[in-house]
Amino acid sequence: MIQSRPIPRKSKQGIEKMRQSCKAASIVLQKISEGIKAGVSTIELDKIARRAIEELGGTPSFLGYKLPRHPPYPAAICASINEQVVHGIPDGRKLVDGDIISIDVGIFLDGYHGDNAFTFPIGQISDEVQHLLDITQAALYKGIEEAKSGNKLGDVCHAIQSYVESNGCSVVRDLVGHGIGRSMHEEPQIPNYGRPGSGPRLKPGMTLAIEPMVNAGTWDVKLLENSWTVVTADNSPSAHFEHTVAILSDGPEILTWNEELWG
Ligand code: MF3
Ligand code: CO
Repeated sequence: MIQSRPIPRKSKQGIEKMRQSCKAASIVLQKISEGIKAGVSTIELDKIARRAIEELGGTPSFLGYKLPRHPPYPAAICASINEQVVHGIPDGRKLVDGDIISIDVGIFLDGYHGDNAFTFPIGQISDEVQHLLDITQAALYKGIEEAKSGNKLGDVCHAIQSYVESNGCSVVRDLVGHGIGRSMHEEPQIPNYGRPGSGPRLKPGMTLAIEPMVNAGTWDVKLLENSWTVVTADNSPSAHFEHTVAILSDGPEILTWNEELWG
């Protein structure tokens, strides 16, 4: 993988600020999780997020976010149901028993962004879909284990890919994780696939949003008419878990860890 710009490294103070923004992001995600049940619409979940972000003194990282050739992102969260991979736009659609919903939320607080995502089951889901959720979350931790000083970025990417594929699912190729800090998207791009020993060396002070997006079926995806929402090409269900992680001299620190949600 070719890195065009250097990977920002945060000072001790920068890491401390990242701890604050990421802690806040984890609180917002946890508050949203309390509202998730059959009958609730995704716009109601967005309202919970906006309120929580404001209470914490931050602003939503995603609201108004611009990608080339896209209209500005219109909400505080991404709420992606079933075959939707990421960037589901909140609307009046109500959750029903058997759905899964990936919630992704970012907060900008005191100059730094925190970013995290979790896929939740609604009521009773099939064993196959439960397997998808379990292995996607486990793949995130496989990646994080490799996110240590001295390793190469490709070690992280490869750990995610090999775990997912050996468990019968596939990683989305068209979307990546990312460095994060003063900007939501910094160098490096973090694909969920790659060769061990490839890419830039990881160093203390780097802060990374690692986010496997995993499909039960094939890895290919397509874009909906709204130009944001990514769905699986074969309509198979898809899961997404994301942590923001700091590379420290003594190993990775999961900045968005929240015992109530992830424990
Ligand atoms: N966690 C996603 C990302 O890191 C969410 C971005 S949504 C957007 O890319 F609207 F802000 F683009
Ligand atoms: Co992200």
